[in-house]
Amino acid sequence: MASFPHLFTLLLCVAVSSAAPGVYFPIGFQTPPIARIGEPFSFVFSKSTFTSPSTITYSLTNSPKWLLVDSGARRLYGTPKEADVGPGEVVDVSVGLVATDETGSTTLDFTLIMSRKTGVELDIPLNQQIPGFGFFSNPYTILSPPRNQFSFVLDPKTFSACSDKPLAYYAVMSDNTPLPAWISFDAGRLAFSGHAPAFEALIDPPQAFEFQLLATDTPGFAGASLRFNIVVGNHRVTADQTTVVINVTAGEFLSYDGLQNSINVDGQPMTSGHGLTVASTFNIPPWLTLEKDNLRMTGTPPMTAKSTNFTIALEDSFADRFNLTVMVQVRGTQAQDSGLLKEELPVIKAQAGEHISFDLGPYLEDPEARR
Ligand SMILES: *[C@@H]1O[C@H](CO)[C@@H](O)[C@H](O)[C@H]1NC(C)=O
Ligand SMILES: *[C@@H]1O[C@H](CO)[C@@H](O)[C@H](O)[C@H]1NC(C)=O
Ligand SMILES: *[C@@H]1O[C@H](CO)[C@@H](O)[C@H](O)[C@H]1NC(C)=O
Repeated sequence: MASFPHLFTLLLCVAVSSAAPGVYFPIGFQTPPIARIGEPFSFVFSKSTFTSPSTITYSLTNSPKWLLVDSGARRLYGTPKEADVGPGEVVDVSVGLVATDETGSTTLDFTLIMSRKTGVELDIPLNQQIPGFGFFSNPYTILSPPRNQFSFVLDPKTFSACSDKPLAYYAVMSDNTPLPAWISFDAGRLAFSGHAPAFEALIDPPQAFEFQLLATDTPGFAGASLRFNIVVGNHRVTADQTTVVINVTAGEFLSYDGLQNSINVDGQPMTSGHGLTVASTFNIPPWLTLEKDNLRMTGTPPMTAKSTNFTIALEDSFADRFNLTVMVQVRGTQAQDSGLLKEELPVIKAQAGEHISFDLGPYLEDPEARR
């Protein structure tokens, strides 16, 4: 890989200048993503790329003009256009990243890959696989007690690529640094295994570890990624079902209090004093009210209500977090279900033998359906 000679030059540079940021974790070792023509490129390089006792600002030198750096976010981004890229299916470009602190500047040269090939696709997202991995919280968090032995295997069809070359896989932390010693990855089987770390004290809050699985058709660079977290905690919030389906009828009052009884903290009902409460919700329908401490849901879906999924984030007094997904399935009248009516029809009164006239137009979903 081109990064090795670059790294060498760089170490020499660092050796001659007595100050300036030092290079600790070169970008060539961080598996940056492959850039694709016409597609936005974004890569957050590791905080430990350079070392410095003071604040570092970043800029670019000798770099393609489509590539920009957001210094505060440590992010390289931009969208390469056809005219920006030389001929060939896979093209190397060199980039110079300059780190500046109060003592001086250091340039780190590395290579990015631009590809005209179709990318690697994520075909089976984690939320379709995580229910098989043990206790979990939607959408991508595996829950584990300290010292627990774990092992989970991803589907071999998780990723796909058009090319007939086999995919290569890497597992890294979310900031692209190597895995900690307690977890190991078998790229041949797409399997993770290990022992969760031990905790000093039972009152320690849970610790979250963020990982990514990278798949690629160009070794050393990432084609697609799958994110997951492992949260190690002394306490465990669980639910009989992590996804709950509730059926509602448009215009009919709903009162549902089945959630409370399906949730446990350390195997005890949530009512038994663990302080479990709603920390936040994501995408809750506006007509639905959720009571924080007993999780009762009430409300009347309007005629225009649509089926939707939302998340309830619960937190107990030990700072354990757990997400519950609620799928709200709205049933309307038959005409609404068929997509013909946007509102329920008013009651039309008619006497036997009388002529009635009523304009359906305003109630129809599609003006074309009026005919
Ligand atoms: C809960 O869901 C939110 C939104 O999807 C996510 O950001 C967060 O990481 C989840 N937390 C857990 C513990 O699963
Ligand atoms: C919700 O409706 C579906 C059919 O649409 C049915 O299979 C399911 O049993 C219903 N669930 C509840 C809790 O009523
Ligand atoms: C809710 O989630 C399920 C399962 O992930 C999905 O099949 C469905 O399309 C979602 N419904 C809506 C309205 O987003």
